[in-house]
Amino acid sequence: MSNPSQNRRVRTAVLISGRGSNMSALLAAAAGEDFPANIVLVATNRPDARGITTAQEAGIATEIVDHKPFGRDREAFEQTLDARLRAHGIELICLAGFMRILTPWFVERWLGKLINIHPSLLPSFPGTDTHARALEAGVRLHGCTVHFVEPEVDAGPIIAQAAVPVLSGDTPDILSQRILVQEHLLYPRALALVAGGAVRMEGRRVITKAHTDTTPANLAMAVPSF
Ligand code: GAR
Repeated sequence: MSNPSQNRRVRTAVLISGRGSNMSALLAAAAGEDFPANIVLVATNRPDARGITTAQEAGIATEIVDHKPFGRDREAFEQTLDARLRAHGIELICLAGFMRILTPWFVERWLGKLINIHPSLLPSFPGTDTHARALEAGVRLHGCTVHFVEPEVDAGPIIAQAAVPVLSGDTPDILSQRILVQEHLLYPRALALVAGGAVRMEGRRVITKAHTDTTPANLAMAVPSF
């Protein structure tokens, strides 16, 4: 019989601010009992976030911590959010379209246990409007990145990336749709690696258990494989 502690799934929260399509992709992946992360909470800073309804319909616990009553006091907002996360016994957090800059206070508390998906090949195009800026810059490859979060915005050790070609005739919307397909594939794979202990953050680098991450199948989607 297998040791239950070896199969323990990591209690994971997904933080969203809007549509929640990445959250849905993560929930779908985590529905399998052999997936190493168990998504037990979806939280938002926006009471009107569409993804909250999706999470509720899926029977997942939700928390709404509206940032507006806290005004400019980001840390007070984060203290409330942090308390709710801890009340649910959260061990790992996935930011999935969470459009609120987190202060070093929060990031340091969750360092190595806080991951984010960003719609560009970091370190290119941190911030917003990534697809318009990629088109403006004339890059031939664009994509998405899953990374551990550091206090600096859209920075931190990179776990996995997926690239797509930029085609003539692309608009920011067309490019964003092509990349979103890859985001939905990439994020569950990256979460599985972190929750399963195959990768971890050490200083500014991601440490993988093995060095088999340049097999041809992984060249377009650079995910460490084992
Ligand atoms: C996604 O494209 C995600 O990469 C991006 O917001 C979108 C959320 O969509 N995140 C950021 O820009 C963070 N800097 P979703 O709510 O449908 O997952």
